[in-house]
Amino acid sequence: MGKTSEGRRPEHVAIIMDGNGRWAQARGKPRLFGHHAGARRVREIVESCPDLGVKYLTMFAFSTENWKRTQVEVSGLMKLFKRYLMSETKELVEAGVRVRFIGDRIRLDERLVALMDELELLTSGNDALHLTIALNYGGRDEVARATKRLAREVAAGRIDPESVDAETLAGFLDTCVLPDPDLVIRTSGEARISNFLLWQSAYSEYEFIDTLWPDFTRDEFARVLANFGARERRYGAVPG
Ligand code: IPE
Ligand code: IPE
Ligand code: MG
Repeated sequence: MGKTSEGRRPEHVAIIMDGNGRWAQARGKPRLFGHHAGARRVREIVESCPDLGVKYLTMFAFSTENWKRTQVEVSGLMKLFKRYLMSETKELVEAGVRVRFIGDRIRLDERLVALMDELELLTSGNDALHLTIALNYGGRDEVARATKRLAREVAAGRIDPESVDAETLAGFLDTCVLPDPDLVIRTSGEARISNFLLWQSAYSEYEFIDTLWPDFTRDEFARVLANFGARERRYGAVPG
């Protein structure tokens, strides 16, 4: 039976926030200028979620491949993340947003990890919106780390290898407590997923839109969500 999403809003939206560099370049500014403009949009989109019926929002902030950028850009981004977490904490706590981070923390600096831990703890009782920030996140890396943890359990005799199925592995992913995304949006016109939520987006709908992330408004977000309701999700079945 096909499950139609007519009139429905996606409960979990994941966003690949792309196009900051091009946005800055078009203004003759350094790439970091675009990242700062992009960070301001994050607040606007987060704030709009409760009204738009979005319960889970997952944002791709930095990929495991983004370390390949120049040292200036990478360290500027890390500084921006720290500043952003410090400046948004109060607002997020008060707005009832529960914040989680996915990705490998091992390569992130101590101060940033401390802020991430603190924000997760401070918002752990919240439920108005579940905001997940993917930082040093890569889908393949996540599956590899999950497999390593699962292998340890098998080696220790706590899990029977014959019992391992997709659900077992999903339980070891960074996203184990989150539902799969209903909709993945990528801004900036690139039609690729760049290692984002590879496992979790198996049946997600995709929207690739041309707008560069710093120009992505709440109104455009609302339009993209409304469009989701017109799609028919089949999950491999024949429409009923
Ligand atoms: C996305 O914007 C933000 C990050 C990857 C951190 P980009 O920096 O990739 O912007 P473009 O794609 O170069 O325009
Ligand atoms: C994906 O964008 C990562 C984030 C948005 C954080 P990129 O700009 O890094 O992806 P590619 O290089 O175009 O595939
Ligand atoms: Mg990009």
